[in-house]
Amino acid sequence: MPYLLGLDIGTSGTKALLIDEAGKVAARATFEYPLYAPRPLWSEQNAEDWWTATCRAIREVIAKSGVSPTEIRGVGLSGQMHGSVFLGDGDEVLRPAILWNDQRTQAQCDWIMDTVGRDRVIAETLNPVLTGFTAGKIVWVRDHEPEVYSRIRKVLLPKDYVRLRLTGEYATEVSDASGTSLFNVAERRWSDVMLDGCGIPREWMPAAYESPEVSGRITDSAAAATGLAPGTPVVGGGGDQAAGAVGNGIVETGIVSSTVGTSGVVFAFADTPVMDPDLRLHTFCHAVPGKWHLMGVMLSAGGSLQWYRDAFCDAEKAEAAAKGVDPYEIMTARAAQVPVGCEGLIFLPYLTGERTPYPDPHARGVFFGITRRCDRRYFTRAIMEGVAFGLRDSFEIMKAMKLPIVQVRASGGGARSELWRSIQSDVTGIPHVTINVDEGPALGVALLAGVGIGIYGSVAEACRAVIRVVGTTEICNVNRVAYDHFYGVYRRLYPRLREEFAEIGRIVA
Ligand code: XUL
Repeated sequence: MPYLLGLDIGTSGTKALLIDEAGKVAARATFEYPLYAPRPLWSEQNAEDWWTATCRAIREVIAKSGVSPTEIRGVGLSGQMHGSVFLGDGDEVLRPAILWNDQRTQAQCDWIMDTVGRDRVIAETLNPVLTGFTAGKIVWVRDHEPEVYSRIRKVLLPKDYVRLRLTGEYATEVSDASGTSLFNVAERRWSDVMLDGCGIPREWMPAAYESPEVSGRITDSAAAATGLAPGTPVVGGGGDQAAGAVGNGIVETGIVSSTVGTSGVVFAFADTPVMDPDLRLHTFCHAVPGKWHLMGVMLSAGGSLQWYRDAFCDAEKAEAAAKGVDPYEIMTARAAQVPVGCEGLIFLPYLTGERTPYPDPHARGVFFGITRRCDRRYFTRAIMEGVAFGLRDSFEIMKAMKLPIVQVRASGGGARSELWRSIQSDVTGIPHVTINVDEGPALGVALLAGVGIGIYGSVAEACRAVIRVVGTTEICNVNRVAYDHFYGVYRRLYPRLREEFAEIGRIVA
């Protein structure tokens, strides 16, 4: 029986998922690694940690499943987007990778926009140059670490570094390349205009494939490190959002996903490279060949609740440990006791700056409207509601663009909470459905591997074989109306605080 392996090089860990051709999970394994914030606004990881975690995760799924490595017919790679791994001679890693949620590069992004020219940037990349994206990170190294810059021979995205270790190939694919600010998104190729404009040599970029295309094969040394069979094909795969969308079946017009992981993403399929006229949504290549997608990205969605749990909820953690349940279960059960709108406690979820709808590295988290009645239950619920308000911002942009929204699929860790799903349905006014699988990007790239080696005829066919809707979280109209009022206040808070965020940024710089 043929098996497919999906690997997701995430921000908190690497996940390996082994499925059969019907999508049945044979085994899954995750190994975590640290995230470093050596200075405010910085976010870095060691590329070697990704490789170590990948090797362990692959070995574990092979051992747990008992599947023979020769039965694993294809491998797909997914991962956190936008990060940059700087490689020198002999593929030496020159410095820690600078990640998607790093916010140090505003000056470099401004320089690129000015030097290349705003209109040319938009025409080439279909997006503004944002601090999270890759190009600013490369220019930052030029400006601040010239010695490192002089030794660069290649720049790879996180999953593509793992691909190099697995296959010996310098390769990426169109969905992840779209988030570099160096890629012509409409024509699905590297942009000489952007590369030349930034002074970045073309040969630093890897080959760019469509997502299901075979990009290389497992080498003998990678086989020894992972337990995979030498020669196993590795397909292009996808950035975690495009790959996750395949894993959620977002491969046709009208089906949209709303994903609450560390980040929060509203993702819509597009037949053509359509753009938000105000550039708040990203337009990127999809992992479906010849198709695109639009997405709104919040930087701290589940990340906000995780922060709150770790900073304030030791009691809930202790109770959860005693009962053998997840601390989030205790926290959300208590949050359900608080009325809709938390009696006016409103949370702005900008803990690590924001991208959609406000591309602002200096934005910060805010609790607005605290009263003496507010205890941890209120703060927990306010975070869940604030994240839902942030997701609604993206839906509002999509509606204004007249993108069809026929069905919204809730996904990510946040979709496991019934309370969070119903808050999302009520806040957006759109019922959220759930699907039968909850494996995220790793499933998406396992399916792409299946397309690449010919098990499925197309990405849509792969999704049809594996994914189906199993439930709907209906809207409560009374709550929807109440949330409309709170959302109005939420919308007005950021514009009123924008200057203060910038000033705080200057004071603590
Ligand atoms: C997407 C984005 C994040 C990261 C990490 O643009 O920045 O979703 O890929 O998950």
